[in-house]
Amino acid sequence: MLDQVEKIDAIIVGASGGIGRALKAELAAQPNFSSVESFDRQHFPEFDLTRPESFVPQFSDWQEQGRRFNLAIIATGALIIDGVPPERRFAELESANMANHFALNAIGPAMLIQQLLPLMPRNDPAAIAALSARVGSIEDNQLGGWVSYRAAKTALNQIIRTASIEWTRKNQESALLAIHPGTVDTRLTSGYAHPKKVSAEVAAKKILRTILSAKPQMSGGFYDNEGQSIPF
Ligand SMILES: NC(=O)c1ccc[n+]([C@@H]2O[C@H](COP(=O)([O-])OP(=O)(O)OC[C@H]3O[C@@H](n4cnc5c(N)ncnc54)[C@H](OP(=O)(O)O)[C@@H]3O)[C@@H](O)[C@H]2O)c1
Repeated sequence: MLDQVEKIDAIIVGASGGIGRALKAELAAQPNFSSVESFDRQHFPEFDLTRPESFVPQFSDWQEQGRRFNLAIIATGALIIDGVPPERRFAELESANMANHFALNAIGPAMLIQQLLPLMPRNDPAAIAALSARVGSIEDNQLGGWVSYRAAKTALNQIIRTASIEWTRKNQESALLAIHPGTVDTRLTSGYAHPKKVSAEVAAKKILRTILSAKPQMSGGFYDNEGQSIPF
């Protein structure tokens, strides 16, 4: 869809992160690239995804000014919050840490999607993609552990599915996607060895290709970086 449009005007939320930054560079290399807004704590120091009051005014201003994007990528998130590592056992579960995961990895993106939708075109191709994680798949969970991060990503996938249904009713050329980026070498994974870890540049190429070629029928789904469906 977006690989066929004349120009892409994008916003990347979390463009300061490992994957967000690589996505921004990859986007700028596309033949139909027009502009990109980096929405992150470097460019908007007041921004805190866990506090909607820190970003809603900026989105309201853009709405009033008639600012429009046909692509939005939400590349924010964390595995370790306030120094608390992901739980290895259920006995390590702490309600405050779990609440922090929901605030950052599920509720924040939900509130962002709410703010982004009015900035997207009504009758033209448009896509919003949020970086989820395969560990949020209930069906794929064979190992246990990481319950707060996992459950927040599972919630994110449900939020995306729900919002996509409403968006499709308004714009049949829309796609709202949950994307697992792969295991990528960034700050988020720096403490974790993984045989299949790839560079952010390699991951960004695949993620962007998947997003730009996404069709409306894919909306509300959960995909890996190559566009293969992941079971919920
Ligand atoms: N890396 C992987 O292997 C992997 C695997 C599966 C899923 N993911 C998902 O991919 C996404 C991006 O991860 P990454 O690897 O690129 O991590 P990263 O390099 O740590 O980037 C995280 C981004 O989130 C932003 N952020 C964190 N807390 C925030 C807050 N409270 N308010 C505003 N911005 C906040 C960071 O901003 P600052 O730069 O200001 O801190 C940064 O832009 C995450 O959702 C992650 O769960 C990654």
